Amino acid sequence: MRKKLSIVGAGNVGAAAAHWAASQQLADVVLVDIAPLEGKTKGKALDLMEATPVLGLDVRLTGTSDFADSANSDVVVITAGIARKPGMSRDDLIGTNARIVKEVTEKVVAHSPDCILIYVTNPLDAMVYLGYKVSGFPKQRVIGQAGVLDTARYRAFIAMEAGVSVKDIQAMVLGGHGDDMVPLTRHTSIGGLPLSEFLRQDQIDAIVERTRVGGGEIVKLLGDGSAYYAPAAATIQMVEAILRDQKRVLPVTAYLQGEYGLRDMFMGVPAVLGAAGIERVLEVQLDGAERALLSASAASVGKTLDTLKAMGF
Ligand code: APR
Repeated sequence: MRKKLSIVGAGNVGAAAAHWAASQQLADVVLVDIAPLEGKTKGKALDLMEATPVLGLDVRLTGTSDFADSANSDVVVITAGIARKPGMSRDDLIGTNARIVKEVTEKVVAHSPDCILIYVTNPLDAMVYLGYKVSGFPKQRVIGQAGVLDTARYRAFIAMEAGVSVKDIQAMVLGGHGDDMVPLTRHTSIGGLPLSEFLRQDQIDAIVERTRVGGGEIVKLLGDGSAYYAPAAATIQMVEAILRDQKRVLPVTAYLQGEYGLRDMFMGVPAVLGAAGIERVLEVQLDGAERALLSASAASVGKTLDTLKAMGF
């Protein structure tokens, strides 16, 4: 039987994610959005379905506003919520998006009690924490998407600057999905060779800075929303790792219980992603500077969590 992927929020990220998932024949896809947008949601799904004969893809795509249609999904991606406008930080979205994430999580888990949840809605680290608490799911089945995207941005900038293929860049960005995320430059390599063989320190520093504000760069350029192609591609890479039990080593937003000295919070760490969800969190050796950066990032995530809790969530 084919796998089932539901995507809640059929906006820019959700629709692009459906597109990537279908193009890889990962699963049948159900797009879910609010009732006033039901026509639009059905239209996007039907339009994608009508592309499948051209591309030779054996997948079904449906659009709905009824969460019952998402029943028994293997994976559910949550993108529902509002996106940033120029001048806004991810944290500015918290009130509206917490309400939406709580509501959709309750509806999703009522119909798919065994699914794996992947959150994309911002502020990411706080929204996935909320999803974890509301769902009551074990920590392995509640995951946030941030690190794959942040690492993809970092890899793209390195490839552009060094004039090499993106395929040969191995890298990992850890920490919260905010402007103090932590690209691990010491562990970054190009074709197995150290980054310093290709770029000067000032070039590397500039790339780290551009990565940290990479989401904001797109928000400014678009003018009326935030990034969606790369966030969607990153999300679908995680979905693929789960549905195809690939045991990929990816940076994911995971629930931490002592790893990296952090407790009762979600943050970006390296992990093995497979059929069970987060199968293992990997604790890599960090040097003093990296540990300090990770602590600063954790402090920012902690502040956002405090705001969330103060709002009664
Ligand atoms: N149930 C289902 N869908 C909802 C609900 C809800 N209760 N509330 C909002 N939505 C839908 C909106 O109707 C909209 O179609 O979520 C969709 C969000 O789409 P966009 O506004 O296009 O936003 P997008 O760019 O996709 O970003 C979504 O992902 O990357 C993050 O920061 C980004 O938090 C934002 C989220």
